[in-house]
Amino acid sequence: MILVVGATGGVGKRVVKLLIDGGQEVRVLVRDVPRAKKLFQAWFGGRLPDRLEFFGGDLTIRESLTPALMARVTAVICCSGTKVQPVEGDTPQREKYYQGLKFYLPEVVDVPEQVEYEGIKNLLAVVKEHIQPKENTLIDFRQTDSPRLAWYSVDDGVMGGVSASQWQLTGDRALFTGEVSTANNGGFASVRSPNFEPALDLSYAEGIQLRIQGDGKRYKFIIRSQNDWDGLSYCYSFDTFNNRPQTVCIPFQQLIPVFRAKTVPEKGPFNSAQVSAFQLMHSKFEYDGGLNPSFSPGIFGLEIESIKTYANPLTPQFIHVSSAGVTRPDRPGLNLDEEPPAVRLNDQLGGILTWKLRGEDAIRGSGLTYTIVRPCALTESENPEMMQFAQGDNLRGQVSRWAIAKLCVDSLQWAEAGGKTFEVSAREPGRNQAAWPFLLKQLNFDQR
Ligand SMILES: NC(=O)c1ccc[n+]([C@@H]2O[C@H](COP(=O)([O-])OP(=O)(O)OC[C@H]3O[C@@H](n4cnc5c(N)ncnc54)[C@H](OP(=O)(O)O)[C@@H]3O)[C@@H](O)[C@H]2O)c1
Repeated sequence: MILVVGATGGVGKRVVKLLIDGGQEVRVLVRDVPRAKKLFQAWFGGRLPDRLEFFGGDLTIRESLTPALMARVTAVICCSGTKVQPVEGDTPQREKYYQGLKFYLPEVVDVPEQVEYEGIKNLLAVVKEHIQPKENTLIDFRQTDSPRLAWYSVDDGVMGGVSASQWQLTGDRALFTGEVSTANNGGFASVRSPNFEPALDLSYAEGIQLRIQGDGKRYKFIIRSQNDWDGLSYCYSFDTFNNRPQTVCIPFQQLIPVFRAKTVPEKGPFNSAQVSAFQLMHSKFEYDGGLNPSFSPGIFGLEIESIKTYANPLTPQFIHVSSAGVTRPDRPGLNLDEEPPAVRLNDQLGGILTWKLRGEDAIRGSGLTYTIVRPCALTESENPEMMQFAQGDNLRGQVSRWAIAKLCVDSLQWAEAGGKTFEVSAREPGRNQAAWPFLLKQLNFDQR
């Protein structure tokens, strides 16, 4: 079941059509159910499709978004937007608004802060109660008050060695530093988290993601499923860049079962439903007597910003149609004559783009796997269009509502779209067009 928000709008009704024609079950959140039924009856040639469900509610009224809205929903496509109309008024079918070629001085009918920001926050709250985020922060070392931050050193002194490590919280990261010595047959230093009570159930995820900055040395990330101090552990070795931030992904499937540096494959794969502690180690040793190929004794240092879970595929759970131009209203040096009306008239339109950006920020911070599509001026064109994507919010031009609807529906299947915000406009004819997933793959993930 896909939930479509803003389904009675120009993009939304096309999204519904494409989903239903593709055999999908669809629920629409609409403010006026009888009006929406009439619209979709006409849109589907006189008969409402069986797979289409109506839910009466308003984004700006949190209580109207009850849990029933999300029953069986696996993903959301959100095409809602503040209602805008010509100052002189429009026809019941909003022809002036939709034809989009002749300029009519616009005015907002609803309050942008309510629809674009508070409304999106209300929607995210109910969505997150029912769709488990694929990315989830387990430990944020920029915080200061969680018991999960109180890691402690476990060095080779336990076997007679003289290596020593320290654990320090600086306010914006944790520092694992120390000196490893091979004297007395030693050669490792580590820090270990307190046991998690209760153990964490991470079975929804694919693995762990570390945000770190290292020193060019190799480290181990160790996870335990049991509370015993000297029990079975699951290990993953990773190399760091020297003094450059990086994200390390640790797939649960690649964790090696280890007991006292010896692998124990008979223990089977890691049980991610039961995670009771983490450990970071810098060691001379790999596994079963093997040596760390990049090891040299001496001082080391690893900075850790966060530990998160991640999931694959990163197919979007929440697809949002925003707008090109959302970052432009306060941009210095902007030539307003070249900008679309929404940018020029942002203040007169209740800060519509400013609030759209705030809504985007709420989505990016939600933990859900999202895709934020920022179309340029929308048209009613029926012709299939080639599209171009861009990031940085400098794209100008037009694109059809059909093309945007198709992009949203197709993106449900594309892991390449997850975690990205990008602008879209029609591409000039005649230029080579690569397949959309390929173009999406070339876009950067959002920095959050
Ligand atoms: N027009 C452009 O050139 C342009 C360019 C770039 C981006 N955009 C943005 O792209 C998005 C889609 O555009 P569009 O032309 O499809 O928009 P649209 O036709 O104006 O549709 C907006 C939809 O949002 C719904 N909605 C508004 N307030 C709501 C609320 N409080 N609760 C629930 N639903 C609510 C409307 O429902 P009702 O039927 O009940 O009013 C309608 O279904 C919008 O966000 C728009 O701002 C537009």
